[in-house]
Amino acid sequence: MNIILTTPSPASGDLIIPVLQTNSLADQLVGFAPTLGVSAEVLQRDFKADAKEVLTVYSQNGQKIYLLGLGKDPQEMDWLRTFRKFFFDQKSKLATTLAIDLTAFDGSVVAGVVLGVRGGGYDLKLYQTDKPETPVFYTDAGMLTLQLSPDQQAVAQEALTRAEAIAQTQLQMLDLMNAPANYKKPQTLADWAVASGHQFGYGVTVLDKAELERQKLGALLSVSQGSDVPPVLIIAEYKPEGIENPRKVGLVGKGVTFDTGGVSIKTSSNMHLMKSDMGGAAAVLGAVEVAAKLKLPIHVIGIVPSTENSTDGRSTKPGDVVTAYSGKTIEIIDTDAEGRVILADGLGYMVRNYQPDVLIDLATLTGSVIATLGYHAAGLFTPNDALAATLTQAANQTGEHIWRLPVWDAYTEDIKSDVADVKNYSGKPVAGAISAAKFLEVFSEKHPAWAHLDIAGMAFADTEFGSQKNATGFGIRLLIAYLQLLIEEKQ
Ligand code: BES
Ligand code: MN
Ligand code: ZN
Repeated sequence: MNIILTTPSPASGDLIIPVLQTNSLADQLVGFAPTLGVSAEVLQRDFKADAKEVLTVYSQNGQKIYLLGLGKDPQEMDWLRTFRKFFFDQKSKLATTLAIDLTAFDGSVVAGVVLGVRGGGYDLKLYQTDKPETPVFYTDAGMLTLQLSPDQQAVAQEALTRAEAIAQTQLQMLDLMNAPANYKKPQTLADWAVASGHQFGYGVTVLDKAELERQKLGALLSVSQGSDVPPVLIIAEYKPEGIENPRKVGLVGKGVTFDTGGVSIKTSSNMHLMKSDMGGAAAVLGAVEVAAKLKLPIHVIGIVPSTENSTDGRSTKPGDVVTAYSGKTIEIIDTDAEGRVILADGLGYMVRNYQPDVLIDLATLTGSVIATLGYHAAGLFTPNDALAATLTQAANQTGEHIWRLPVWDAYTEDIKSDVADVKNYSGKPVAGAISAAKFLEVFSEKHPAWAHLDIAGMAFADTEFGSQKNATGFGIRLLIAYLQLLIEEKQ
């Protein structure tokens, strides 16, 4: 399906009219009523413009018109969610040609609309053998025109280009996240990154198991040793051309392709969801790809340590002491706290080899952050107030909420080991997301601008796509918005 911008014009095909829930809603509906051949009174009773509310009407000349409610004061995420749900629900009923009347709105709303329309075409049924045919609107024949007033065209065009770039990357990440562990190995993520780097002109290096051994990434190797599937470290680097001293941002993402817990094995009830334990990797790889596509004037390095966490006679055992890339030793109290262990090497590798100006890691790290913030926000951990403020500003723009939790030194007690430099678990059922962050802080090597995002509750969640939790693509838009703020700050 193609998306194009036009100025107001009589639409052929179906028409969607988004409607805000304002005080003048009644007047707006009075305006629509004549064309729809329905009384204003009936229309007002049937449609309140609540977010995601749909009223289908047929105009006197036979056109199908959807009034689509937006609620009050919708932000980008509200536009996105409203349109995604509409297209997901209606896609089999849509005409080949469709128009959305945005003449009453600012051109910037196009971003949320396009992300929603593209997202609504997603389906989880990748592995079903009797898949229904792609709805005609979502085939190459499909055509969507976005109607905007002439003075909004330039803003809208910019929003369209960005949203298309992000949507295309995000859909691929949804597939990777939703892929089961027998279809998705660490090498699968590496292959994706290499192909993307070729396509969009950025560098990707993959350290294989032999290289990890040679360079002594002992923490990553210790998590992988219970699996037949070899681990990798993926390094994706996008450097803009022709920019003097661009800011350098280091992103590190947890890429556990399946987390059984290891010897400290998980209970079975929700273990199948642990195919999604690479949400940090998806955000990081996705953000680097989008930065390269959009040719952002900023230097971005993404590092993804990737492995399975499996059970086997050769698995790391509780009590084992392993030596990380940085040289620091880790006592493994619980093999299910594996994310922080592989991130120790991801962060260590970034700090030693790339010295970024800003260092951000993202990980589906703890159940504790879900106990704390539920499914409505990711945990933000950083001692740096300015970085916290900018990341929060970016999150508020995209609607991918983050909430700051403390990283006071009082919590360092929790990761003190008797026998090694640090231990990977406090052994206490309290403040688990914070002690995990304190562990990571050790491997950030006192980087002055380090932040950790615990996205365990946000990367895989309830959506309209299915009855089980599934991928959300959380973090890609947030990271791109953050990079954009950094770029503006420098200008
Ligand atoms: N991958 C899990 C965290 C997780 C839990 C992500 C639920 C998404 C949903 C992580 O590796 C883990 O197992 N964490 C343990 C740590 C504990 C053993 C210290 C946890 O949170 O229970
Ligand atoms: Mn685990
Ligand atoms: Zn995990």
